[in-house]
Amino acid sequence: MSTFRITLSAGVAVTLLAAGATFAAKSQNAKSGAIERGKYLTTLMGCGDCHTPGTLCGVPDFKRQLSGSEMGWQMPNGVVYAANLTPDPETGLGKWSDAQIVQAIRTGNRPDGRQLAPIMPWMNYAALTDEDADAIVAYLRSIPAVKHAVPAPVAAGTEVQGPVLRMPPPSAWDVPPGSSGGH
Ligand code: HEC
Repeated sequence: MSTFRITLSAGVAVTLLAAGATFAAKSQNAKSGAIERGKYLTTLMGCGDCHTPGTLCGVPDFKRQLSGSEMGWQMPNGVVYAANLTPDPETGLGKWSDAQIVQAIRTGNRPDGRQLAPIMPWMNYAALTDEDADAIVAYLRSIPAVKHAVPAPVAAGTEVQGPVLRMPPPSAWDVPPGSSGGH
């Protein structure tokens, strides 16, 4: 009888262990699945075009993938720089929560309250599903951290150091009524 009990509890323990291992394996698979999906999405959504240094000049530096760019974007109200998206805590997104990253991508709201320039296409990214937004965050957390502080935004009228992408003033067709068109 006691042998039977031992056999039974050993059997239960083995079953539980197996269930635990299956659960752990499943969540590991889910995590690597999310990272793969995030990699796929960030590639297709062109994050690297702006956020990987050199890409806009035709010489992407994949060793510093998504670590931000020195190339400024000129807008009517100043110059902005594509940010460091790697997990570096000082110069990248390392200290941002998942929710803060998703919010910046979908609404352009930074944790400090500043609204990102629409050059960062958050208006398009507003349509991301929760699952895809989480996958992008999982991928950004998985890439190597690169220490690289991109220049802070520069207010209009201030002299800018370094290269700047300057667009010609928009044609009348592109200018919203009541706007001077900037520049
Ligand atoms: C067309 C260029 C462009 C593309 C494509 C782009 N971004 Fe950006 N992104 C920018 C610029 C420029 C800024 C900074 C804007 C500002 O400071 O107002 C920025 C800022 C950000 C920020 C805020 C970070 C911070 O420290 O302020 C996040 C997060 C971000 N981008 C994520 C992404 C992700 C993820 C993708 C792809 C899904 C992406 N971006 C695609 C240009 C781009």
